[in-house]
Amino acid sequence: MADLNYEWKCGADLKSIQWSNGCLCLLNQTALPGSLEYIDCHDHRRVGAAIKRLEVRGAPAIGAAAAFGLVLGARELAAQGENLRLLLPQVAEELRNTRPTAVNLFWALTRMMAVVDSVASDADIVAALEQEAIAIMEEDRQVNAAISSHGLELFEQPVQAVLTHCNAGALATVEYGTALGVIRQAWANGKIGRVFADETRPLLQGARLTAWELMQEEIPVTLITDNMAGWVMKQQLVQAVIVGADRIALNGDVANKIGTYSVAVLAQKHNIPFYVAAPLSSFDFSLQTGDGIPIEERDSCEVAAFGGQIVAPAGVDVFNPAFDVTPHELVTAIITERGVLRPPFCTAIASIQKEKGGH
Ligand code: MRU
Repeated sequence: MADLNYEWKCGADLKSIQWSNGCLCLLNQTALPGSLEYIDCHDHRRVGAAIKRLEVRGAPAIGAAAAFGLVLGARELAAQGENLRLLLPQVAEELRNTRPTAVNLFWALTRMMAVVDSVASDADIVAALEQEAIAIMEEDRQVNAAISSHGLELFEQPVQAVLTHCNAGALATVEYGTALGVIRQAWANGKIGRVFADETRPLLQGARLTAWELMQEEIPVTLITDNMAGWVMKQQLVQAVIVGADRIALNGDVANKIGTYSVAVLAQKHNIPFYVAAPLSSFDFSLQTGDGIPIEERDSCEVAAFGGQIVAPAGVDVFNPAFDVTPHELVTAIITERGVLRPPFCTAIASIQKEKGGH
């Protein structure tokens, strides 16, 4: 495990995902910050529904949840005496069809299905899948700890404040978080004084989740609406931006929560570095550029309503892309578990891919 100069204080409350005795327990992120509710998933259908509804969300958390969804599917099929090798691909397909943009979902399921192929005896499939899902979960912890400590090198000089968008924290991962992991670590080392959190319309992951997560640890946070980010930069209130990623192409184009692109354009205009923190499981080594990244479009009611109240005229036409792609030219650096990547990203990412042997 990387050297994390930071004591994790959040305890069980902030665990997005827990696995025990054949049950996947998810912290219901749609109920936060109003109430702390947990969802016990006993079958893969419930896990798939939780991913679709954003009860579990954030690229790494979605990947880990889907891995356990496959375990639950395998357990059910085995209990029914079914042929796992024949039927598990359907379960994997159901889970794949939940959300299209975060590549971690597809990465985790591909990794899980490879286990099925590598196990010689059918009787060992369920146990091997469970072991692999636990490994994915454990690795995510370690990877986020490594990202958090590598991120410190970007803050040799302390800054007053950074801005973040959406939630790339402990809730979005198995533990620590990616962008918020770096922020936690830098704050603990006296390198960051405050976090400005964009509220992140339409589903308010910044207001509901990032603000809550940081306040749990008394990290100073100031909430702003998304359209205030430019003015905050103009007033020189933030000296860096750090966000997470749902999918990164070979050239360094980054898909992340809708609104990230606007923040990156604003950061460039104000000469503020724009950092992306992401594990290698968020890289899509099959895509040359971000043009090929599928962008999820969600229900119009998410835009036409606010806090459960309809705020737009009935029948209005709505466009609701859940993600956007920030072109690599706007990205200053990408913080990974292998270190900080700098432009030209195509060279840096190609060398990481070579080290890994691709995937
Ligand atoms: O729609 P969401 O809430 O799943 O979107 C999440 C994000 O865009 C995060 O920034 C991204 O997944 C990185 S999480 C470490």
